[in-house]
Amino acid sequence: MICAMAATFSSISLFRRPWLLMFLTLALILHLSMASDSTSCNGSEREALLGLKASFFPPNETIEGVEDLDSWKGLNCCDWEGVECHNTTYHVVGLNLSSLRSNANLQSENFDANLLTPFEQLQYLVLSNNKLGGELPVEEISSLKHLYWLDLSKNSFEGKIPEEIDQLLSLRHLNLSNNQLQGRLPESLGNISSLQFLSLSTNQLQGTIPLSFANLSLLKDLDLEDNQLEGTIPPIFDKLRYLEHLNLSRNDFSGNFSFSMLANHPNLTIVNLSHNNKLVILQTNDTPAFQLVELDLSYSDMSKYDLSVPGFLSNQKTLSKLLLAYSNLSGSIPPWVLGASHNWLYLHGNMFTGQLVLPPTPTDLLKLDLSNNRLSGELPKEYHSFFPHLSEINVSGNVLTGNVASYLHAFQGLDMLDLSVNKISGNLPLELSLNLLFLDLTNNQVTGNLPASITYGNRLRALWLSNNHLTGPLLSENFNLLQLESLRLDGNSFSGTIPKNLFLRIPSLKVLNIRNNNFSGSIPVELEELSNLQVLILRENRFEDGLPVMCMVKRLTILDLSRNNLRESIPPCFQNISSWVQNSGPSLESLNSTRIGTETSYREVVSFTKGNNYDYFGLTLSLMTGIDLSQNQLQGHIPTELGLLKGLIVLNISNNHLTGSIPASFDQLRRIEVLDLSNNKLEGRIPPQLVLLYSLSTFSVANNNLSGVVPNGFQFSTFSESSYHGNPGLCGFMGKPCSTTLPPSEVNEDEKEDSIWEKDNLVLYAVIAMGFIVGFWGVLAFFFLNMKWTTLCFETMDRSISSLSLRGKSRGYSSFSSSGVTSYSVLGK
Ligand SMILES: *[C@@H]1O[C@H](CO)[C@@H](O)[C@H](O)[C@H]1NC(C)=O
Ligand SMILES: *[C@@H]1O[C@H](CO)[C@@H](O)[C@H](O)[C@H]1NC(C)=O
Ligand SMILES: *[C@@H]1O[C@H](CO)[C@@H](O)[C@H](O)[C@H]1NC(C)=O
Ligand SMILES: *[C@@H]1O[C@H](CO)[C@@H](O)[C@H](O)[C@H]1NC(C)=O
Ligand SMILES: *[C@@H]1O[C@H](CO)[C@@H](O)[C@H](O)[C@H]1NC(C)=O
Ligand SMILES: *[C@@H]1O[C@H](CO)[C@@H](O)[C@H](O)[C@H]1NC(C)=O
Ligand SMILES: *[C@@H]1O[C@H](CO)[C@@H](O)[C@H](O)[C@H]1NC(C)=O
Ligand SMILES: *[C@@H]1O[C@H](CO)[C@@H](O)[C@H](O)[C@H]1NC(C)=O
Ligand SMILES: *[C@@H]1O[C@H](CO)[C@@H](O)[C@H](O)[C@H]1NC(C)=O
Ligand SMILES: *[C@@H]1O[C@H](CO)[C@@H](O)[C@H](O)[C@H]1NC(C)=O
Ligand SMILES: *[C@@H]1O[C@H](CO)[C@@H](O)[C@H](O)[C@H]1NC(C)=O
Ligand SMILES: *[C@@H]1O[C@H](CO)[C@@H](O)[C@H](O)[C@H]1NC(C)=O
Repeated sequence: MICAMAATFSSISLFRRPWLLMFLTLALILHLSMASDSTSCNGSEREALLGLKASFFPPNETIEGVEDLDSWKGLNCCDWEGVECHNTTYHVVGLNLSSLRSNANLQSENFDANLLTPFEQLQYLVLSNNKLGGELPVEEISSLKHLYWLDLSKNSFEGKIPEEIDQLLSLRHLNLSNNQLQGRLPESLGNISSLQFLSLSTNQLQGTIPLSFANLSLLKDLDLEDNQLEGTIPPIFDKLRYLEHLNLSRNDFSGNFSFSMLANHPNLTIVNLSHNNKLVILQTNDTPAFQLVELDLSYSDMSKYDLSVPGFLSNQKTLSKLLLAYSNLSGSIPPWVLGASHNWLYLHGNMFTGQLVLPPTPTDLLKLDLSNNRLSGELPKEYHSFFPHLSEINVSGNVLTGNVASYLHAFQGLDMLDLSVNKISGNLPLELSLNLLFLDLTNNQVTGNLPASITYGNRLRALWLSNNHLTGPLLSENFNLLQLESLRLDGNSFSGTIPKNLFLRIPSLKVLNIRNNNFSGSIPVELEELSNLQVLILRENRFEDGLPVMCMVKRLTILDLSRNNLRESIPPCFQNISSWVQNSGPSLESLNSTRIGTETSYREVVSFTKGNNYDYFGLTLSLMTGIDLSQNQLQGHIPTELGLLKGLIVLNISNNHLTGSIPASFDQLRRIEVLDLSNNKLEGRIPPQLVLLYSLSTFSVANNNLSGVVPNGFQFSTFSESSYHGNPGLCGFMGKPCSTTLPPSEVNEDEKEDSIWEKDNLVLYAVIAMGFIVGFWGVLAFFFLNMKWTTLCFETMDRSISSLSLRGKSRGYSSFSSSGVTSYSVLGK
């Protein structure tokens, strides 16, 4: 109060002396103009910055995805975005130009590091994520004597890390991760004694860790993840007392590793040695100085480790993640292990035997993964009270027994419960209020009906009950599941008709698999209103009457109605389904991995049968498209509109009563790999244009009434007799040459048509002849044009294969990944 009065008084006195006011104003203006002068940066550095900008952004071109550095104009370069100047000398001391071109469709280009040399006072330089390439510009950068922070990560720098790297003597922080660096780690790195942070992760570095690293005594973070480093982990840690984070995962280290090497490192909190499957982790009985927060030894070799002797691990009181998946552990799980971590405990993929045990005292555990072991017996009664905070548990792929009701009862209130692939039996309980997001009971011996208790809570995102002995009809009052995306009831004995409008209560449904049950009646018409539906598998039931007119379900990728009693004809409107019409395949949101919690997701892999004998494993749903209507009693002609489904990969309409001819429009099915029209009553000839289906690998028209010469060339030269047999009128394939004279009756009747046929034949022969000439290059060109898809496809297959092999012994129906993202994969039968 007094101050305010004083201020008012003094301002009044100011107004009494106008000259003073004027003087002060002038002084202020002068000061401001001087200030704006002096903050404008050193002119030569400004020019250098503009040069740098020009090299990032080629002049006179606007490239989409490039940040335009709008603020880089005017005199005061110290105000420019990403530029920091010294407070008094106004020299540029910091440049942070990360991710300026990361979204641009640019090739990586060699970086001209001479552009940096004018910034003599530079202390930090961040050029990460900019599509820069070439050799590491160590020589140019070494002229920056004050540089302590260098981040060139996420670029395409290649070649070796030069021995001269130690000229960057004052570096404290060096991040070269995510480049294409090769060769050995230079000894001289050990000379940069001021280093505190060193990341060389995600490169292709080879050889061993140099002993000179023992001199990096200030190092806090060492991150060599994801390289091809090998040999033993050398004893370099003695002097590295400040070490906090050690990440050596995804390399090829071998030999013995003992935590006693790190025993005197009080600040160590994170150790990740995972994915070094030849690295033998030895038992340590020391009491180390550290208290770890995260320890990941998954996919290492702990076969020498005896968990029943509580070594240093049992003294780690702050562990929040303990990951020991797929690390050759065996024996029974000692109770203390279950209490060893506060948040995540992953013990999956080992050879643990014995029963599910309880921790010594109730734990804070949020996620527990015990899947893919050999655990047996029943669930201890008190299980839930020892894991009061649990939100996810996975015990799939064991040999657990006991009543399903006790399991479900113990895990009420969880988000995610995976009991799949065990020997759990009994009826689903009536009295329960499960409130799960995800329930997987696949492959057990559960009996009884599907009661309301299972679907209670309206939170379910995925309900998988495949391959049990469930019976009875579905009751629509149990299905108020607004969030449900994936419903799998396949391989049970459910029966009865599906109640009217049941599916309207599951509007979010993306995957519906009720294959191999005893459902009867018509296929519910309201399926047509499930606009999110992508996969519909009703195979092997007793559905009758017509096909649902699915033409409004625009995202449908897989429609499998085979082995039912469907009559009537194939609807002609499938071309309304966009994922089947797009040339590039479905541009759908992918289903493979759907998040159901903050970190949890399940991944769906559908096995889609492509014929009578063969299963189509592995393609993820984001790539697969197909229609299987085989083994029904469908009648009428094949609609020519089916030829418009350019995105279709599988079309199986075999074993029906289809009549008429094969539409010539089928030559537009350019992505088709499987085309099965066998065992129908089709007539006429095989359209010669079908040779244009370069992707076709399985083709059958066996057992119809087709006639004429079979196509030849390209893929068609790979099909055998079995593709054609049972068509007395067909000729021109193995062992059945076309006779030069046609039977007299046919000549007379089909004379007119024959002349057209000959014209067609001319076209065909031309195609074939051209095929012989340009075939090789054509196929090559085709693959080139389709490279993107093909690569994607192979990548996906690779992934599927690796996920299959991970599931290993249990024919695994689900797998937690050690990354913390939990993925669930389920294959159909
Ligand atoms: C800019 O900095 C350089 C090097 O420090 C110096 O030689 C030059 O005189 C400075 N230029 C101006 C205009 O201050
Ligand atoms: C950019 O455009 C200006 C004027 O349009 C022209 O003078 C200059 O030569 C161009 N620069 C390049 C590199 O094309
Ligand atoms: C400049 O001043 C700010 C705030 O006073 C300080 O945080 C910063 O470290 C100084 N920068 C330099 C290069 O001295
Ligand atoms: C560089 O800029 C990015 C994005 O603005 C920021 O996230 C990062 O922390 C900065 N790095 C440094 C070292 O200043
Ligand atoms: C090192 O670079 C990688 C890739 O840009 C980044 O993810 C990581 O956070 C960086 N590390 C540090 C400590 O800045
Ligand atoms: C740098 O390291 C190399 C190899 O470890 C060593 O021979 C050399 O003497 C070191 N140089 C300095 C200046 O320490
Ligand atoms: C560590 O540095 C010292 C002094 O520079 C040097 O003599 C020694 O050879 C270095 N050790 C290793 C293992 O490089
Ligand atoms: C451990 O960290 C603390 C606090 O960050 C620090 O004071 C201490 O010097 C560190 N000790 C060692 C040996 O690194
Ligand atoms: C390696 O582990 C350290 C410590 O947890 C972490 O900071 C770093 O990001 C990890 N590196 C990669 C590439 O994930
Ligand atoms: C690894 O440790 C085991 C047992 O402690 C020992 O028998 C073996 O010789 C060690 N191997 C190597 C290569 O040091
Ligand atoms: C599905 O998998 C692919 C490849 O693994 C991945 O790129 C994509 O992000 C995944 N989709 C979702 C929704 O996670
Ligand atoms: C350890 O590294 C692996 C891959 O290198 C990563 O997937 C895993 O999440 C890391 N572990 C922890 C606890 O961060």
